[in-house]
Amino acid sequence: MGSVTPKVSLLDTTLREGEQTPGVYFDVHIKVAIADLLNEIGLDIIEAGHPAVTDEIQHAVEEIAGRNLHARVGAHARSLKADVDLALECGVQFLGIFYCVAEERLTHHSKGLTQAVEQISQVISYAKALKPDLVVRYTPEDAVRSSFENVIFAASEAAHAGADVISIADTTGFMIPGTKHNLYDYVSRLKDELAKRSLSPRIAVHCHNDRGLALANALDGYRAGAEIIDASVMGLGERAGIVDLAILLAVLVNDFNARDDLRLNKLPELYHLVSKYSGLPIPVNFPVIGENAFTHCAGVHTQAALKNPLHYQSLDPSIVGRKSKIALDHMSGLSAVRYSLDQIGEENTDRAFALRILEKVKEVGQRGRTVDLTELKYIVRYLSEQS
Ligand code: COA
Ligand code: ZN
Repeated sequence: MGSVTPKVSLLDTTLREGEQTPGVYFDVHIKVAIADLLNEIGLDIIEAGHPAVTDEIQHAVEEIAGRNLHARVGAHARSLKADVDLALECGVQFLGIFYCVAEERLTHHSKGLTQAVEQISQVISYAKALKPDLVVRYTPEDAVRSSFENVIFAASEAAHAGADVISIADTTGFMIPGTKHNLYDYVSRLKDELAKRSLSPRIAVHCHNDRGLALANALDGYRAGAEIIDASVMGLGERAGIVDLAILLAVLVNDFNARDDLRLNKLPELYHLVSKYSGLPIPVNFPVIGENAFTHCAGVHTQAALKNPLHYQSLDPSIVGRKSKIALDHMSGLSAVRYSLDQIGEENTDRAFALRILEKVKEVGQRGRTVDLTELKYIVRYLSEQS
């Protein structure tokens, strides 16, 4: 892994891309709470919204930008001076400007490539002139399916005009690691081509999850030297969404040693907040954050995990401030029951008694329920009274 970038910046776009999930909208006070948590966790950039979408979104971006967060607060904008004006009125320190570069798409905007690139350059120069310390990102939309020459042309002109970041958008989740359409090669080639032109903007990757490969592609881009990775809470976003923030952070911290300054133990609180106000439940088997992410169930697993959790865990739950758990149901064995009896302080350690409890636990489990510790106490009392 010779080309791994030692430090990567993290951009959260729950408040912008996440709100492109049909039906999802966060009130201003909830947006502020989400931004504060993202800031506490240590995100570098918080994309707070696209102010041109509604007045209320513009107000929310302004509120978040005014909080003096450690994170850089950003807005999204089309390649239009009017969008830039609205964003800058909000006081953002980061601006993402997007415009497609595929000829077929541009014909729908009644534009040729040269004209589109001129517009992009002008809008970037305009933004930079208004606010010289603004970090500007240019995204050639659907970059990976557009002509590479067009992307290089637009990216180079954007960098000349002052863009600090070029974002490679896999807008449709098209890339697949290990095939000829892979983000590792794409980012490597892009960096080489820009370097040949003496340009070195930071490279960001924005990966959609249409094939379930958003995270794999983002890591591919990172290994090739991408310096910024976009993600959102629960991977919320257009269609199948984008890279999930918690999984990305856990892998970057645990497996790539990419950061040591993040407060990952705040992630569960963030996820529950976003889940509650998006109205979207966190699936129980969701990695890292889901209720069952560190729960052992089958008897064989539980028996071994009770001796050493690493037998059936490759990620330490304490990384996000969580603990391993044991679930009791029809898959349980005697070890799980004995462990749970100990948890509730049961003094009867008789094997025959534990076997009767196990039988009852399996009976309940077959009805599609797990036995929690409160129900276990009822079972213990009931069976004790029977004997
Ligand atoms: N740069 C400049 N103009 C762009 C553009 C870009 N990157 N992408 C699209 N446009 C233009 C289109 O050409 C079209 O303009 P036209 O109607 O003059 O041809 C317009 O933006 C989009 O069409 P439509 O949505 O019908 O226009 P609208 O004026 O009613 O609404 C928004 C525009 C942005 C307010 C509205 O689409 C919206 O709220 N969008 C949500 C945010 C969004 O779409 N984000 C995409 C993130 S990738
Ligand atoms: Zn997107």
